[in-house]
Amino acid sequence: MSSNEVPSLTRKIEAAVAGAIGRALPDLAGADPVVRRSDHADFQSNAALALAKRARRKPADLAGLVADALRADAVSVADVSVSGPGFVNITLADAPLWQQVVDRLAARQLGVSASELGRRTVIDYSGPNIAKEMHVGHLRTTIIGDCLARVLTFLGGEVIRQNHLGDWGTQFGMLIQYLDEHPEASWHRSDLADGASTVSALDTLYRAARADFDSDASFADRARRRVVELQSGEEATVSRWREIVAESEFAFREIYGRLGVLLTPEDSVGESYYNGWLPDVVTELVESGIAVESDGALCVFSTEVTGPDGDPVPLMLRKNDGGYGYDTTDLATIRYRIRDLKADRLLYVVDARQALHFRLVFETARRAGWLTDDVEAAHVSYGTVLGPDGRPFKTRSGDTVKLMHLLETAIERARGIVSEKVSDLDPAELDQIAEQAGIGAVKYADLSTSRTKDYAFDVERMVSFSGNTGVYLQYAHTRIRSILRKAGSTDAVIDPSLPLQPAERALILRLDAFGDILADVGVTFEPHRLCGYLYDLARAYTDFYEACPVLTAPGTLRGNRLALCQLTAHTLAHGLDLLGIAAPDRM
Ligand code: ARG
Repeated sequence: MSSNEVPSLTRKIEAAVAGAIGRALPDLAGADPVVRRSDHADFQSNAALALAKRARRKPADLAGLVADALRADAVSVADVSVSGPGFVNITLADAPLWQQVVDRLAARQLGVSASELGRRTVIDYSGPNIAKEMHVGHLRTTIIGDCLARVLTFLGGEVIRQNHLGDWGTQFGMLIQYLDEHPEASWHRSDLADGASTVSALDTLYRAARADFDSDASFADRARRRVVELQSGEEATVSRWREIVAESEFAFREIYGRLGVLLTPEDSVGESYYNGWLPDVVTELVESGIAVESDGALCVFSTEVTGPDGDPVPLMLRKNDGGYGYDTTDLATIRYRIRDLKADRLLYVVDARQALHFRLVFETARRAGWLTDDVEAAHVSYGTVLGPDGRPFKTRSGDTVKLMHLLETAIERARGIVSEKVSDLDPAELDQIAEQAGIGAVKYADLSTSRTKDYAFDVERMVSFSGNTGVYLQYAHTRIRSILRKAGSTDAVIDPSLPLQPAERALILRLDAFGDILADVGVTFEPHRLCGYLYDLARAYTDFYEACPVLTAPGTLRGNRLALCQLTAHTLAHGLDLLGIAAPDRM
């Protein structure tokens, strides 16, 4: 039998305390029960402290009343006591804890409630630039955005992924002109040596074009004319541009495939997609009086943000040469996502350095009436990836570090570490596990750091079997799987009448919090909370395993403990999957 939702013990205790408050103190009915995990009991309610002032009574007296009401009602509570200035400590009986394990194992998706049901979220992530190498900054947006897409989907939400490719702008006129004048330059996949990448060839050619543009006035003129041709849809120029986009996207897809992210070609809705709407967006903003002229350009001046000179900061709608840029496109984008895609929530997983840009885009969209109170818009910003020297990650020559190179280094190191630990793997299996461990290590290191912080890219630490790493969690999962294999039976039968050991109790309380943590990630957009949870879970399991023999446990106890192993393995596997990390059965 599979039921869908299994409310967590925290939610159940919250409901019980809220009920007790309502019965004991009707004037305070509806107040927040302020339930937290506790060191002294399973849970504690701090409501009495929060409510004392309003009730004009001592917190300890309030706590006593709530405790009495709770004792009289909640059958699953084994002990209620008041401590300190007014904490209500709540300890559960053993049977309801076992029952949670039974229910979660029987439920779909471990009984996690579908808190996102009916909500549509558009997530803007990855967004690499055509004809440019993807760099470590794009690694962060790609991994974080993908994790959020997975979590919100798991919570029952509808997610629309949008890969806002940088596929438009004057730089393409320059590049196309240069390619035409240098037919000998090779950049097509078919012309390149094995392993060489199209984007990196294009990246190099673009730099050469840029240098010519800056030093050669007549080339600059020809390049500008090419921009106009591209914008007016001149056929040969446009087909050249299409070719460049297709070749670059091919290279990006190779990285996406390697990373195992959800992005598909259908998710690519780049800057060029909005071209046709730019004049209309601008007209709308002019007509509503939001856009104003300034030195021949058209701008929206912020009513909220001023620059260092004290003047309002502008968003550039149309440059004085008539061209549109990144700002205008993002206004067309936000309008499209609200009006056409009918998003309830918009997430932009973009570098923290673009904070001002998004603040201005959101402000303008609000003033224009597109972004209303029932739509949430958030810039999910993230910090910089630093090199081992603690400075922004660059190669020795000052170039950005190529993503594919980083991934390959991590896979290589993972292969070394895995083959040291496990010797009986055949080469194909080792390849696969090294790939899963190396990629998982890079992703986990990124996701486990608080999003807004910078972090140093340290491969040795990432692929370590100990500490808060992806490899540690993958390994913890394989160890449990191996115990389950040894046990043989598929379904563990739980006897809820058995008394709980402290380590079992601690593990169950952790396991039970999975859904609450996911809901938390769903509102904070902070994957590191899930990482921290999984790490604590793996350690709670280790404590349990050391204190409580599983395979040699007597009588029905063996079934109970096997069930704990099963639920832990499922929770770790689901958790890793939501981080976009593989959970192999062996490593
Ligand atoms: N292409 C941009 C960059 O590499 C990121 C795009 C972010 N998304 C957006 N809607 N502006 O910085």
